[in-house]
Amino acid sequence: NKPKVVVCRHLGPAMPQLERRTDIDLVCWPEDRFCDRAWLLHNVKGATGVIVLLGDAVNEEFMAAAGQQLKVVSTMSVGYEHIELQATARHGVRVGYTPDVLTEAVADLTVMLALMAGRNDGDLYSLVKTGQWGNLAWSPFKLCGPQLSTTLSSPKRTVGFLGFGRIAQATLARLVGFGVTHALYTGSPSSNAQSVLARDAELKTRYRLQGLERVDADRLAQESDVVFVLTPGGKETYHLVGEAFLRKMKPLSILVNTSRGSVVDSDALAKALHEKWIWGAGLDVVEGEPFIGGDHPLVKEPRCVILPHVGSATTETRLDMATRAIDNVIGGIFGGEMPSELK
Ligand code: GLV
Ligand code: GLV
Repeated sequence: NKPKVVVCRHLGPAMPQLERRTDIDLVCWPEDRFCDRAWLLHNVKGATGVIVLLGDAVNEEFMAAAGQQLKVVSTMSVGYEHIELQATARHGVRVGYTPDVLTEAVADLTVMLALMAGRNDGDLYSLVKTGQWGNLAWSPFKLCGPQLSTTLSSPKRTVGFLGFGRIAQATLARLVGFGVTHALYTGSPSSNAQSVLARDAELKTRYRLQGLERVDADRLAQESDVVFVLTPGGKETYHLVGEAFLRKMKPLSILVNTSRGSVVDSDALAKALHEKWIWGAGLDVVEGEPFIGGDHPLVKEPRCVILPHVGSATTETRLDMATRAIDNVIGGIFGGEMPSELK
C-alpha cells in the first residue's frame, strides 16, 4: 500500500514534483480556491501526509477524519495559526512549514506598505485611475504624508518592530537604505540577554544605525515613526495592538501589519485612523480576512492601504515555498528528515 498524500490546493509549477512520484497515491483538490471543508474531511481519510494552506483548519476534527495512520501535516506558509499544535502533538503528527524561503519577499512588501501608507497610495492611485488627476495637480501640501527617510528638517527616523524575527530583521536591513536612523523592538524571548546584546551591537554596526534597542511595547508605541507588526499570530499576540497601544502612537506615525490580522484590533485601528490618533496604516492582513467587504470600517478609511494577503506572492518565492512544503511532506511520510519541521 502506497502512502496517500492529500494536497489542498494545486501547487502549479511545483506540482510535477509530486505527480511524477510513483511511491505515493496523490489526491488534489481540483479548484483554485480554499478547499471545501467537506471535501477535505472526506478525502483526508486514510492519508499519511497532507499539504494544507492558511484556510485549512488542522484540529481534532481533522485528525479524527484522517485516522491514526496520519504522520505529517505540511503547511505552505510560515504562519501556523490554523494548526492546533496540541492536537497534532497529541496524535504524534509532525508539522512542516516554510520559514526562511519567504523572508525576503515579505520584507519587500513590508517596506512597500510603509511607503504606500505614508504617501496616501491607497487613495491616490485610484484617483488617477478614475481620471481625477487634473483636480489634484501639484497642490503644495494637500497630498502630503510623512516621509520614511530623514530630511533636512527631520534628521531622525525611528522604526519599531513588534516581534524581531527573520522578516523584521530583513525589513530593517532594507530600511537603513531609506535613511532610518533608530530601531526599537520587542520580543525575542528565545534569545538570552547576552546574545541579544551581542547581536544588537553587531546589527547596529552592520546597518550603521545610531540606535537599536529592545524596549517594552509602550515605549515602542510612543517613539516609533513607523510600527511594524511582525509577531506570529495566535492567542499570545491576540489584539496586542489595541486601543491602548494605538493611543500611545505618534500623530504622524504609521502602522504596518504583514503578519496576522488577529494581532491588530480592527475596530480600534479604524477608530485610531478616523480620529487621527495616528497618520495611516498599511495592512496585508486583516482580522476576518478574506471576506472583507467594501463597507468594512478599515476599507472606508482613506489612509488605510489594504492588500489581500500577498506578502510572499512572488513567482520565485511561491515556487520555493511549494517545494519546501513538498519536501516536508515527503520527509514526513517516509519517516525521514523534514527540511523545516516545526518543533
Ligand atoms: C503567510 O501569511 C504565511 O504564513 O506564509
Ligand atoms: C517635482 O516634480 C519637482 O520638480 O520638484
